[in-house]
Amino acid sequence: MAIVDPDLMASCPKGLTSASGIDAVTHDLEALVSVMATDYTDAMAKQSLKMIFEYLPRAYDCAPSAGDAGTPDPDAREKMANAATMAGMAFANAFLGVCHSMAHKLGAYHHLAHGVANALLIDEVIRFNCSEKPPKMGTFSQYDHPKTLAKYAEAAEYLGCRGKTDEDKVEALIKKIDELKTKIGIKKTIKDYGVDEKYFLEKLDEMCENAFDDQCTGANPRYPLISEIKQMYLNAYYGRSDKV
Ligand SMILES: [Fe+2]
Repeated sequence: MAIVDPDLMASCPKGLTSASGIDAVTHDLEALVSVMATDYTDAMAKQSLKMIFEYLPRAYDCAPSAGDAGTPDPDAREKMANAATMAGMAFANAFLGVCHSMAHKLGAYHHLAHGVANALLIDEVIRFNCSEKPPKMGTFSQYDHPKTLAKYAEAAEYLGCRGKTDEDKVEALIKKIDELKTKIGIKKTIKDYGVDEKYFLEKLDEMCENAFDDQCTGANPRYPLISEIKQMYLNAYYGRSDKV
């Protein structure tokens, strides 16, 4: 049961507002392409995304921070409460994916807030999932082949991202996500959060194996190799990435 009362969120500070808001973005994006996605969860995820892109920057701007009490914006808080709940309804039915598998371990090993950990990995995971011919694909009884690129592109269009090809639309979606992250004060790389390079590399293989074993991995549309998880972590650490 969830008690969805935006008044309870009115005084959430900026950090909590941005981390929990961007976490909901990743809930929507993972539910959307999950092997267990349905028409019902797609509808929830897409509408939720649209609301978050509109209202999260407002909710963030009105949030209190050190030395600033903030300016209440009940409408933005209410829309974000609804959007985050809809994202929860989407992923409670469709499940999540490898972004959450990796974020769970990144947060646990390196003490990053859950939403921030997801934010740092989602660009990588979108690009990874877009492959039309992955070496291994996810399996589920209702899932016949990867339609991930088309589904991201459809969501991108719904959010107003334009492009000639599906690949262009997905790149525009990633750009839109990056702009949202910038607006709500999320840094670009794992390294930017002060995670020590030597310690990160030391723990990387162990973290990759644990991420692979996470319960969210099974719903991802592209079944990852441990070496592919490692590459995504490295890209997210150093801030390098390939186009779709
Ligand atoms: Fe999450």
